[in-house]
Amino acid sequence: MKRTAFMFLLAASFFVIIASSCDKNNNSNPTTLTLYDSLGGTAKVADPANPGQMIEAGRLGIRSVVDSTIFVIAGDDSINHYFDVLLSEVAVNDLSGFQELSKNLTDFFCVATGAKNFTYTGLSMTDAHNPATNPRINEKVNAADFGQFINDLGTGAQQNGLPDYLISRVAAVAETVEGQVVQR
Ligand code: HEM
Repeated sequence: MKRTAFMFLLAASFFVIIASSCDKNNNSNPTTLTLYDSLGGTAKVADPANPGQMIEAGRLGIRSVVDSTIFVIAGDDSINHYFDVLLSEVAVNDLSGFQELSKNLTDFFCVATGAKNFTYTGLSMTDAHNPATNPRINEKVNAADFGQFINDLGTGAQQNGLPDYLISRVAAVAETVEGQVVQR
């Protein structure tokens, strides 16, 4: 009788071990990865912009794409007029507005792609793209210029070596706010 109970307990504990290891495997199943995970996720790496500091690889990837995209837009005469305030600051070596925009856009895309360790604290997408509530934007955005912004985002992502399937996913995230950004 004792021997039967022991065998039963042994079998039961094997079941528990196997069930819990299956559970762990499910948590790391690639199909459950967020876009943020695919962009590098929470693994800490050295931050090339801040010597001695670490940064989540996903955030570094997003910030790199954001910064490249701001440069692409700055050189894109079809939409850079929206950013006149920013560009006139940069022209006199004042990078405060650039740093603020870089941080806000990076926070926004971190949160929108599934990051857990950051929050977006900037203006709502509607207020950020209305000159009445954000004097840093020259005029309301139209649909064609929104499309050009997405093209420039794709160029910024390409400059950072993102594969096409990830560029499409980042663009799809950006497109979710079209209804709030386009206001004319
Ligand atoms: C595609 C999705 C877009 C996202 C996710 C986005 C996001 C943002 C964010 C987070 C800010 C900063 C808000 C703050 O300072 O609190 C911002 C500002 C701004 N956005 Fe957008 N935006 C998008 C599209 C566009 C487009 C299409 C244009 C124009 C063609 C545009 C022009 C601007 C301008 C001019 C500013 C102010 C920049 C500055 O602070 O100097 N955005 N946007």
